[in-house]
Amino acid sequence: MFKKEFKITPWNVEGEVDYEKLIKEFGVSKLEDNILERIKKHTKELHLFLRRKIFFAHRDLDWLLDEYEKGNKFFLYTGRAPSGDIHIGHLLPWIFCKWLQDKFDVDMWFQFPDEEKFLFKKNLSFEDTQKYLYENMLDVIALGFDEKKTHFLIDTKHANLMYKEACKVAKKITFSTVKASFGFTDSTNIGSIFYTSMQAVPAFLPSILKGKNIPCLIPLGIDQDTHFRVSRDVMPKLGFYKPAIMHNVFLPPLTGVSGKMSASDKISSIYTTDTPKQVETKIKKYAFSGGQPTIEEHRKKGGNPDVDVSYQYLRMFFEPDDKKLQKIHDDYKSGKLLTGELKEILIKKINDFLKEHQRKRELAKKRIDKFVFKN
Ligand code: TRP
Repeated sequence: MFKKEFKITPWNVEGEVDYEKLIKEFGVSKLEDNILERIKKHTKELHLFLRRKIFFAHRDLDWLLDEYEKGNKFFLYTGRAPSGDIHIGHLLPWIFCKWLQDKFDVDMWFQFPDEEKFLFKKNLSFEDTQKYLYENMLDVIALGFDEKKTHFLIDTKHANLMYKEACKVAKKITFSTVKASFGFTDSTNIGSIFYTSMQAVPAFLPSILKGKNIPCLIPLGIDQDTHFRVSRDVMPKLGFYKPAIMHNVFLPPLTGVSGKMSASDKISSIYTTDTPKQVETKIKKYAFSGGQPTIEEHRKKGGNPDVDVSYQYLRMFFEPDDKKLQKIHDDYKSGKLLTGELKEILIKKINDFLKEHQRKRELAKKRIDKFVFKN
């Protein structure tokens, strides 16, 4: 069978993503069991994202752990370009960062490049990005980051701090490099061409502020790797370490287990602000099922958890208990568990999660100030 061609840029993911192929094309390393064991030595347990290889690839994680073991602590860096509401797929790297922050007791730098999507999208005004900036910050805070160790960098607000550093990066990147890396053409606007140098800055800004080199770890969706493929070459030239990176797979859209949940496709995504009823309707109506067309057939032949979106959401996110997950898997495969029943399990899990998230999101409204970096 042919896999549909897939295409990945930091702004668009199309088709059925072949992660093995990506590992080769991007030149990243697979997250093997031996490195997971190394992480476990420090964290005592492994997050489900690691046990189940939702984070599946990395760059220089061995080096980062070497440094950590020598007493050279790292900081975390990831980000979000405000451009729409947050869906549950966005949360994967952020939840993972929060876990790493707790386990390794490290600082977290979170970038909100509020100019990025203004530059890259046709119909997004600066006013829109500021509205989403506010909303998106609430979602990040709601995940429970430590306010004393978490610093938000907002590109337009912290331009005084960031622009100079971005220029140092930009001076070392040619137009032909970004053209080849991002697929830019002669009609790409010049703000977009410069942008990647802004995304590089938080990977070394803490080193500048502290006056010493600090290792950096960036958990991200693999589509963002391109930015750091470019800037990792530049950073040693500026006297900094190359950041280490960990890559997660995309949470699939409701409508099928390939590709990436999209913030602009209202029916294929679950948003953090969805009501219980909306979640129920979306899962029941749109979650792609690996079950059989009739109950009789399902009982006889069983379902296919590998392509079943509800099962995959439980595996990738909502059922942390390995034994329970295995039972759901086996019962679905044998036909004992019906699609409707599987969906009910997921609906309850998501709604429990969102209830808590939305409560914390409300509380976050009073706390934004504590997270925005003060220079
Ligand atoms: N470009 C990312 C986005 O489109 C935002 C971002 C900024 C980011 N810095 C990052 C993502 C570092 C991952 C890691 O949302």
